[in-house]
Amino acid sequence: MSKILVLNGPNLNLLGLREPEVYGRTTLDDINQMLTETAVAKGSELRFIQSNHEGELIDAIHDARTWADGLLINPGAFTHYSYALRDAIAAVNLPAVEVHLSNIHKREEFRHKSVITAVCLGQISGFGWRSYLLGLQALLEHLSSAA
Ligand code: DQA
Repeated sequence: MSKILVLNGPNLNLLGLREPEVYGRTTLDDINQMLTETAVAKGSELRFIQSNHEGELIDAIHDARTWADGLLINPGAFTHYSYALRDAIAAVNLPAVEVHLSNIHKREEFRHKSVITAVCLGQISGFGWRSYLLGLQALLEHLSSAA
C-alpha cells in the first residue's frame, strides 16, 4: 500500500473563501475528502498537512522520509521563491508531484516561475480542485510502475 503525504502551503487553509474567482469555492476539507475517496479506491493511504509556515512544511517533508512513498504538494506562494522547500524535497529523494489550482503560467509574471518543479516528477496547474486528483493519479501510477 503506498503512503502519500499531501502538503499544502500558505493561505490554502482559506480555500473556498479566498479569491473564489481564482481558486473556486471548494474548501481544502472538500479536496482532502475527494483525495481520500480516490486513495481508498486505489488502496493507498494519505496524510494531510497544511501550514502557513515554511519551516513546518520542511519538517513534515523530512519526517516523510521515514514513512512516505511520495509527496503531493501545493506549495502556494512558496512555489515561486522557497529554495529551502525545494532543497527539502531534493534531500528526502521522494517522488513528488506539484499541483496548483490556478494556471500559474497565465497569471502575474512572478507566478510563472516555480523553483519547486525541477525536484518533482512534474507539475499540474490550472484545473482547480481537479489538479489535486490528477496529481494523485499521476503519483500513484508512477509508484506502481516503479514498483
Ligand atoms: C497556487 C498559486 C500560487 O501562485 C499562489 O500563491 C497560491 C495558490 C495555486 O494553487 O493556484 O497560493 O499555488
